[in-house]
Amino acid sequence: MDFKTKIEKAAEERNSRIVLALDLPPEKPYEILLSKAIKILDGTNDYVCAVKINRQLVLPLGLFRGLQTVICVAKDYELPLIMDCKINDVGHTNEIIARYYFEAGFDAVTANPLVGWEEGLKPVFKLARENGKGVIILVYMSHKSTDEGYGRSVKDKKTGSLTPQYQIFARKAVEWNADGAVVGATYPEKIVEVKQIVKDKVPIYSPGIGFQGGKIEETVRAGADYLIVGRSITLAKNPAEATKKIRDTVNSVLAGF
Ligand code: XMP
Repeated sequence: MDFKTKIEKAAEERNSRIVLALDLPPEKPYEILLSKAIKILDGTNDYVCAVKINRQLVLPLGLFRGLQTVICVAKDYELPLIMDCKINDVGHTNEIIARYYFEAGFDAVTANPLVGWEEGLKPVFKLARENGKGVIILVYMSHKSTDEGYGRSVKDKKTGSLTPQYQIFARKAVEWNADGAVVGATYPEKIVEVKQIVKDKVPIYSPGIGFQGGKIEETVRAGADYLIVGRSITLAKNPAEATKKIRDTVNSVLAGF
């Protein structure tokens, strides 16, 4: 089963479009960090369709050490695992980065399309396809200065005309048959534009609700398929309750369509 199908299936079974970004602030000893991460996973797994891991856990816990416990627990809950590593180097290095994450148990990785295809992301997509794994690419990030990079108008190699970078990336997501396109929830108008390009071919993943200022309703209405949520869950007094509330809000917006 390919990654797109895997996460869609998990979303349907759990009636949730929430990807849990299991990010925690630094803490020592690292065992405490690990037990907090597991506790959040235990409490929230019913309300999410996937788990996204970032450097917040990989660096202190170690990919083939402490993080393996988190990966095993997520797998026991049958939740797809995304590594948000934003692959961004030359091809052979990119391929090795992806290989380690896939070997460690991840089902998908994130990557930056800025590095291009030949000797860029092609080896990552090839490896992913051979192993039934996914590649989700950045299209328009959620932070304030995203326009400095993803919003710049550049000369489109194909048409010769000045085009915003994110539109070119959205087209690449279709051309490369990416498993997802990341567009910040903080820019719903960009989600609308990207959706017009990717249609139903590439699902849109939106991080940025809550702490970064994105609004659930606007994000879902704009066309996001999955909402990536971190601190609004991981820093909540009751992460399970917070996740359920976000999940229910998303579902009520979807039901009103
Ligand atoms: P919060 O705490 O803001 O966490 O809910 C969001 C999570 O998503 C990551 N993030 C992004 N990832 N493109 C990405 O690929 C983005 O534009 C983006 N913005 C936030 C962030 O690192 C955290 O894990």
